[in-house]
Amino acid sequence: MSSCPSDQPGRNDPCWCGSGLKYKKCHLSFDERLEELRLAGRQVPPHSLIKNAGDLAGIRASARINAGALDLVARHIAPGVTTGELDRLACTYITDHHAVPACLNYNGFPKGICISVNNEVCHGIPDDGRVLQEGDIVNVDCTTILGGYFADASRMFCIGRVSQQAQQLVDVTLECMRLGIEAIRPWGTVGDIGEAVNRCAREHGYSVVTALGGHGVGKAFHEEPFVNHAAKGGTGMVLVPGMVLTVEPMINAGGSDVYVDEDNGWTIYTEDGSLSAQWEHTVAVTETGVEILAR
Ligand code: MF3
Ligand code: CO
Ligand code: CO
Repeated sequence: MSSCPSDQPGRNDPCWCGSGLKYKKCHLSFDERLEELRLAGRQVPPHSLIKNAGDLAGIRASARINAGALDLVARHIAPGVTTGELDRLACTYITDHHAVPACLNYNGFPKGICISVNNEVCHGIPDDGRVLQEGDIVNVDCTTILGGYFADASRMFCIGRVSQQAQQLVDVTLECMRLGIEAIRPWGTVGDIGEAVNRCAREHGYSVVTALGGHGVGKAFHEEPFVNHAAKGGTGMVLVPGMVLTVEPMINAGGSDVYVDEDNGWTIYTEDGSLSAQWEHTVAVTETGVEILAR
């Protein structure tokens, strides 16, 4: 299927995916199906986006540490705690488990995880001066690297008692992510995710941020395809078994417009000051559906 001839083994040669199986027993019919779709004008993934069983095991192992770090944050997050303290807790946990906090120094990002509060959409920078208050809604986004494999996940936390509106935004955003993941089918498209997310958000009067989105992930932090969480079903790259990507809808209570912090160059805010929530899982497309790798 590929334009690269060395990518196209003979029937009895080892498959390009690294499984060790003969090509004819592994990805030969897969390649034929992909080539048919490509000739029909569909956008198909390159082989470089297809993970083998060893890659998936590597991402799962990275994800276990990621989940441990987020569980630790969950036990400590409370009114009066600073986002700087939570960053140190997560980073210490990750490095103690022989992994690396992927955000640290990523394109110059100064901390190990992202913590985004209330009207902050994402990429909030942990700060010893930022004290969490009763009523805040907080996204903690953690990415770990273990053995070269990235696992990317984020969760929302409600600090003490929060308003009904805030709680509903957090709950609906979780539902948006779940529905986005449920929409993933082998040989479907990446647009199916966005259609499901957007429908759920709009039903509740919320808007989906499209300036940022999900992404392929594996041996790099951000791979193709870009996941637009408000796309149309049946559009965009075809999803096939072995692809790994994030579903991470950012949902605003108000409008979908956002802006970047002028001073730190990172933090994204809602343009209208409305609340924003986000959940993120890393998932794999399987032969039959989808597997959640990092939550
Ligand atoms: N974890 C974020 C994501 O879901 C990326 C954060 S990049 C950083 O893709 F530099 F801001 F940390
Ligand atoms: Co993330
Ligand atoms: Co991500």
